Amino acid sequence: MSVTAAEEWRNPRNPLRDKRDKRMPRIAGPCAVVIFGVTGDLSRKKLMPAIYDLANRGLLPPNFGLVGFARRDWADEDFGQVVYEAVRDHARTPFRQEVWDRLAEGFRFVPGTFDDPEAFARLAATLTQLDTERGTGGNHAFYLSIPPKTFPAVCEQLHASGLADPRPGRWSRVVIEKPFGHDLASARELNRVVNRVFPEESVFRIDHYLGKETVQNILALRFANQLFDPIWNAHYVDHVQITMAEDIGLGGRAGYYDGIGAARDVIQNHLLQLLALTAMEEPVSFGPSQLQVEKIKVLSALRLVGPLEQTTARGQYVAGWQGGEQVVGLLEEEGFAHDSVTETFAALTLEVDTRRWAGVPFYLRTGKRLGRRVTEIALVFKRAPHLPFDATMTNELGKNALVIRVQPDEGITLRFGSKVPGHLMEVRDVNMDFSYGSAFAEDSPEAYERLILDVLLGEPSLFPVNAEVELSWEILDPVLDRWAAHGRPDPYPAGSWGPESAVRMLARTGREWRRP
Ligand code: BG6
Repeated sequence: MSVTAAEEWRNPRNPLRDKRDKRMPRIAGPCAVVIFGVTGDLSRKKLMPAIYDLANRGLLPPNFGLVGFARRDWADEDFGQVVYEAVRDHARTPFRQEVWDRLAEGFRFVPGTFDDPEAFARLAATLTQLDTERGTGGNHAFYLSIPPKTFPAVCEQLHASGLADPRPGRWSRVVIEKPFGHDLASARELNRVVNRVFPEESVFRIDHYLGKETVQNILALRFANQLFDPIWNAHYVDHVQITMAEDIGLGGRAGYYDGIGAARDVIQNHLLQLLALTAMEEPVSFGPSQLQVEKIKVLSALRLVGPLEQTTARGQYVAGWQGGEQVVGLLEEEGFAHDSVTETFAALTLEVDTRRWAGVPFYLRTGKRLGRRVTEIALVFKRAPHLPFDATMTNELGKNALVIRVQPDEGITLRFGSKVPGHLMEVRDVNMDFSYGSAFAEDSPEAYERLILDVLLGEPSLFPVNAEVELSWEILDPVLDRWAAHGRPDPYPAGSWGPESAVRMLARTGREWRRP
């Protein structure tokens, strides 16, 4: 544990001692962000728009710089045009010329490749110049939005050019996008490479799900209320379903996705983090280390339920209909090998070996080209131990459920039985809804706005640490090994809810997937 983390552990920040008004947003101090992989999709659709949105919300300082690094023959103005188009097409907040003009004065572009020390020397010179001209103050965040195989080269170059070592009182941080490795061994190796250059407290690993409002609200729901905790355990909960479904296909993403698949892309990070927040104990405080400790405890207590051929499922979409449109299967998508065994659907059964959760299955599923885009966490409760009604009157009563709607239509649904109006005592399921859209006037910021700002503020709570990443791979590795050794994923038609094997996976214990 680092000194800072250890100190914080012994001495959690006392809110009463901290005089700052917690309702006022914190503004980043002087700094520059360098994006590697500036020509990629993530940078165009998420990172550059989020930086503009932060500026528009007044959360970036006037002395802020944005530096693009890529193998392109661009001048600063060309880079500015690329950022402009990204902001125009993808920013969340309205375009304001004066905000843009001020932000754009801090744009710089450095052409170069990752194996070229001279390019990194130019980058260092550009940052020094920004520090003096624009007052970015020697504080630098390096955002690696690039394939993991290039992390070692970039980290080494940052080290060799002195950029990883900040001047006294300044900071130098590295931001890493997933996938963080493709199994435990490669994740360990990557962690070793990154930590050789950047100490763990300067490493910010992005799991953008943790930046989502609805995901942070899991903590508020569980730990700010009296209502839920008494039933949040194996005595009342029958099982938990965590679903992340997408309707989009993988056309255009073969370079990233082929050979990676749904389990590595989504379960290893987003879904295991959602599970950890759902299952963890109350942290001592919301300081970063306390939160991480509780998540790590859950991940260490997780175990796969077997036999894996029955308790896991994987699928690959074939041609079908989606939203009234006929779409092709994965093997016909551009760039995918015609015999690709990459899974586009993955489901697992897990249990958390603790007193709170003993015997409660946690079912995780994710997929592309499913019925619709939805992410939700559903706690499905046991049936009432006794029903004093005629059985025919409760035919339509299902199990009670508490559903956290992560997206879209963000909110929470409570599902329970209610009497159908009339003279019979007939009971049927109804929903009680909380919806962000109608309860709050404020729009939720994009996850990347929150996370980029936290990097600049040096606030690590929402970033998984090394141990979380490695534990997640430890859980997934046996499944991936089994799948690699046994045939192909099961086919499912685009627009459906996945392969039959996923239905059987729950049916074996008399359960079924919710239709979100
Ligand atoms: C990314 C995955 O992490 O999350 C993508 O790599 C996926 O495959 C994306 O499409 C979904 O993000 P969101 O925020 O739209 O649910």
